[in-house]
Amino acid sequence: MQDKLKSILDAAMGQITEAADIEKLNAVRVSILGKKGELTAVLKGMKDVAPEDRPKIGQMVNDTREAIEKAISEKMAALNEKMLEAKLAAETIDVTLPAKKQMIGHRHPNTVALDEVKKIFVGMGYQVVDGPEVEYDYYNFEALNIPANHPAKDEQDTFYINDQILLRTQTSSVQVHTMMEQKPPIRVISPGRVFRADEVDATHSPSFHQVEGLVIDKNVTFADLKGTLEEFAKKMFGEDTRVKFRPHHFPFTEPSAEMDVSCFKCGGKGCRFCKGEGWIEILGCGMVHPHVLEMRDIDPDEYQGFAFGIGLERIALLKYEVDDMRLFYENDTRFLKQF
Ligand code: DAH
Repeated sequence: MQDKLKSILDAAMGQITEAADIEKLNAVRVSILGKKGELTAVLKGMKDVAPEDRPKIGQMVNDTREAIEKAISEKMAALNEKMLEAKLAAETIDVTLPAKKQMIGHRHPNTVALDEVKKIFVGMGYQVVDGPEVEYDYYNFEALNIPANHPAKDEQDTFYINDQILLRTQTSSVQVHTMMEQKPPIRVISPGRVFRADEVDATHSPSFHQVEGLVIDKNVTFADLKGTLEEFAKKMFGEDTRVKFRPHHFPFTEPSAEMDVSCFKCGGKGCRFCKGEGWIEILGCGMVHPHVLEMRDIDPDEYQGFAFGIGLERIALLKYEVDDMRLFYENDTRFLKQF
């Protein structure tokens, strides 16, 4: 029996040393220690060994098994290490290759233009305030002197959530919130998104952006409005820019106007950019209607105000000479990174 074990051990050691890869080593393990393995067969034969010899023989079988297992696991570790070394050698990294460039997003032209607008008005002492996009009909229309059934409501057809709640059609609604939250003197701008049931084309979108402005103080006149907006236009489009006010109608201002800026492309002579007009319309404005002040318990004999509403996309389109507003909403980085 002793000889048998010795020969199993010697043969096993030889095979283990020879096993060139993990697969072969596993085969060796199975052939010796597996269910039908040589050593297992010896164990099964223990029943034929005389009872008094069993402990001794059993010990020898165990020693043999342990020796073989130890040899296999050492060989396994060596083979694994060899494999890792081979893998590392095969997968060398070429550190001279240029790294993959990180894609970084780009500020939207609307954001670039808005930051500029904010900077100009903050420089004149204005505070930037926010208002809700989902709005009560009351703030969007009634409190701005646009009662139910007023035709101005048709021009600004929007998305109604129910009879009283809608997506705001104009940032002018924030004028009302501001007058409820602050006491005069008030000097705010409020940029934000507005919504109208418009078809998409080169100059229209169902959702676009405005920057509202509101000033309320004592002794405010139309001259203050003109001076402020002219200053804004010069800072935004260049010192040579001239402005022109055309009478207009807005229900919440009286008198009301639209402001044009001289075409900064042709200086006002008329070109394709300004469609031969020499002037480009950029905002609506006016003196806050006394009735709008009264609804907020502000005495129009004591306080006056002016307001304005700038179309942000219009400013950005002009400033960056883009002729189709749809490009602003596609978020194609090839377009955006030009600004
Ligand atoms: N809310 C107007 C619109 O969307 C723009 C506007 C006009 C705003 C005159 C004003 C204003 O504050 O005084 O067409």
